[in-house]
Amino acid sequence: MTFTIRPMDAPLGAEVIGFDIDRHATAEAAARLQQAWLERVVLCFRDQALSPDGFVRLASLFGKPTPQPLQRPEYRVDGHPEIRVLSNHHTDTLGDGKPLRIGGSWHTDHSHQQHPPRGTMLYAVKLPSSGGNTSFTDQHAAYNALPVEMQERAKVLRVHHVYNSPFAPRRMPKLTAGEAAEAPDAVHPLARPHPVDGRRAIYLNPIRTANIEGMPTEAAQELLDEMLAHSTKDQFRYTHSWRPGDVLIWDNPQALHMVDHDYPADELRLMHRTLVQTV
Ligand code: SIN
Repeated sequence: MTFTIRPMDAPLGAEVIGFDIDRHATAEAAARLQQAWLERVVLCFRDQALSPDGFVRLASLFGKPTPQPLQRPEYRVDGHPEIRVLSNHHTDTLGDGKPLRIGGSWHTDHSHQQHPPRGTMLYAVKLPSSGGNTSFTDQHAAYNALPVEMQERAKVLRVHHVYNSPFAPRRMPKLTAGEAAEAPDAVHPLARPHPVDGRRAIYLNPIRTANIEGMPTEAAQELLDEMLAHSTKDQFRYTHSWRPGDVLIWDNPQALHMVDHDYPADELRLMHRTLVQTV
């Protein structure tokens, strides 16, 4: 039996039903999945029971899993430098010691890198009894919905991304001096071409965007705020309610995402994450 790919009842997203990594991991299946991923931005594999090896094999159908930038013991799965553990019980050990609220506001992953990861894959290892949904936007559709003059302007505006913007709505984990020295920064167009097919998408990241070249800071932040308000309208959004066994992969150049940390704080929400590169 083969597997089925079914669009979600939403502007983006599709679910993959009946996929078994041991039976279905062929080149043909990878091509089918990659096409659906490009078109629907977010794919959800249902009913998975994966070892760390299996998780990395699943991610490898979409690209090359990359080592996680922060290799501290609490974030690691032994033997798997490409897996990062995300837990609501982790605290900012080098910073204020408070629980980390990873992913708790709109962002795209690692945009401060010159070649940000194409995909992020997340495996629900332990879910709280309620809440903890993850929402996504379709930044390509949001770009297409802009007035033509704004589309043209966004193609040439160059946005500076850093590890943690001074205007960010939340603080990133504090880095050691060595990690901070290695944290890059990068400039990307506001309307960034997709690395696979060149279609443009609004490329934003409120936690990392520091300024726009040649624009006064206040005007730049106002424009970025306007772009965010536009991109996060319902017509471009999908909200995922996690089920046990779900594995999601999203296309970072085409999507913003954020998780609601609205679940009971004493319950564990534990995810395994890997990032894949396709170029
Ligand atoms: C993230 O933003 O990387 C995590 C999202 C989630 O935990 O649902």
